[in-house]
Amino acid sequence: MKTLITAEEIANRIEELAREITAFYQGKALTAVVTLNGAMPFASDLLRKIRLPMYVDTLGVSSYVNNQSSGKIHVRSPLKLPVKERHVLLIDDILDTGCTLANTVAYLKDSGALSVRSCVLLDKETKRSPGGALSADWYAFRIPDVYVAGYGLDADEYYRNLPDIKIFS
Ligand code: XMP
Repeated sequence: MKTLITAEEIANRIEELAREITAFYQGKALTAVVTLNGAMPFASDLLRKIRLPMYVDTLGVSSYVNNQSSGKIHVRSPLKLPVKERHVLLIDDILDTGCTLANTVAYLKDSGALSVRSCVLLDKETKRSPGGALSADWYAFRIPDVYVAGYGLDADEYYRNLPDIKIFS
């Protein structure tokens, strides 16, 4: 598989993102919500660079069916902490059609978060679905419309542990 983004490039970009996010959330009651399973490596590296007090929680949501945005998500693994009265930074792996992100943000707002902003590892240059999120508040890399694996992203559940992001073919 061809390497698209190296571990070194990821680490450098995370430093920049962490500085921006640290500056943005100064003085706010922050909860980072990490989506399972794909965002785990990215979140683990990013969160350790953010110099703020925060809660960290995880959320497992199931993908939409047939690329359609139902406006709802199925929660496979719920939040463990309340997000009421807290500012939520949602950390996700990849923005593709935008359905998952839009629906997850809506779910967190409905759960009482004061604000919800998103940070994704990858923003794929694809046609967003109707109702899908057009963009994330922060992204590490914009990539072409190719299927990628590694650094949390999978192909049939394999490759999540690769340090680089590769084009899966
Ligand atoms: P949407 O389309 O809702 O979906 O933005 C985001 C989810 O789709 C999966 N996805 C990928 N997973 N390599 C992957 O390993 C990819 O290239 C890819 N594109 C989309 C992923 O689960 C993501 O959370």
